[in-house]
Amino acid sequence: MFDRYQREIHYLRLSVTDLCNLRCRYCMPDGVEKLEREAVLTYEEFLRLAALFARCGIDTVRVTGGEPLVRKNVAQLVAGLKETPGIRRVTLTTNAVLLAEQLPALLDAGLDSVNISLDTLRPEVFRQITARDDFAAVQAGLQAALESGLPVKLNCVPQAGVNEGELETLAALAKDNAMQVRFIEMMPIGYGAAMPCISGPELRARFARRWPELAPLSPAQEHALGDGPAVYYTVPGWQGSIGFIAAVHGKFCASCNRVRLTSQGFLRPCLASETGCDLRALLRSGADDAQLLAAIRETIWAKPREHHFNDSSMPATRGMYRIGG
Ligand code: GTP
Ligand code: 5AD
Ligand code: SF4
Repeated sequence: MFDRYQREIHYLRLSVTDLCNLRCRYCMPDGVEKLEREAVLTYEEFLRLAALFARCGIDTVRVTGGEPLVRKNVAQLVAGLKETPGIRRVTLTTNAVLLAEQLPALLDAGLDSVNISLDTLRPEVFRQITARDDFAAVQAGLQAALESGLPVKLNCVPQAGVNEGELETLAALAKDNAMQVRFIEMMPIGYGAAMPCISGPELRARFARRWPELAPLSPAQEHALGDGPAVYYTVPGWQGSIGFIAAVHGKFCASCNRVRLTSQGFLRPCLASETGCDLRALLRSGADDAQLLAAIRETIWAKPREHHFNDSSMPATRGMYRIGG
């Protein structure tokens, strides 16, 4: 369906848990208060809502967290989503710590692609960023995903003084691997608000000095990689490409196509706004499909025009792990 700014909304980001097995410094360094089990939607509840979202035009669902793979049997949810009439694509964003072991079940469930968060190729820097020693597990997850033939994208958040010196090395992973290595501007959300952002344009200029032949993908090639906010470039002869997600310096709100459902069943029409609709309360108070559909449509219709990251009044307290990225 369309929102009031004529944007077609067809993509749902579904956060299945707030929990995570890493403690990234810009996301949830201090750990989180564990939600009561009952606070989080069951898979049955997610699937009931997903069927209603599909009736509103959602055809793509991205499963996120926290870290989605820490929730038991996520493959079962993926399979249920894939069977939902109207939903064509089901994808996953993960830190890959548990990916190698769960990949076979996810492939059986029909997962369409995977985005893996990886900010460094150095184990000691991985520990510095995530406060955990899971570098080898993440490498195994990435390797397994690449070998399986599943489309893979890497998400890297450049951080001044941390991984700044290895961004070319990370980007160069796209040379011999048919994957997209994407650089995400640090967004001033949660702990990220206190960290300087290395901008997409700055980084692109840096890469253009390193690879003078760096050139944008054609619109058709870009379309084939999904319709998220990333803008892609490649170097002739490379198998993969480099992407930039410049939420701060390359605001893409005008072409936004997505809404978010938190693990507690709160429908958040924009990453950066507090407004939305408590679908869990409606679900659990016995609302019928028509009432739920009306609430979903009303919330999508009222999606804000854009984020106001640069407005200092924006609350920076909520962690990204709770919004689902
Ligand atoms: P593709 O469809 O594969 O391109 O995925 P994606 O980039 O939409 O999803 P992913 O989960 O890999 O997100 C990568 C980064 O983009 C994360 O940091 C997200 O927070 C950010 N992102 C995704 N959607 C939005 C959005 O609507 N607004 C903003 N500001 N950031 C977003
Ligand atoms: N700004 C930008 N990206 C962030 N992520 C988490 N917090 C932030 C932030 N403040 C990224 C993670 C992961 C993706 C889902 O979101 O690194 O790759
Ligand atoms: Fe976990 Fe992802 Fe947040 Fe890191 S960025 S703490 S991997 S949810």
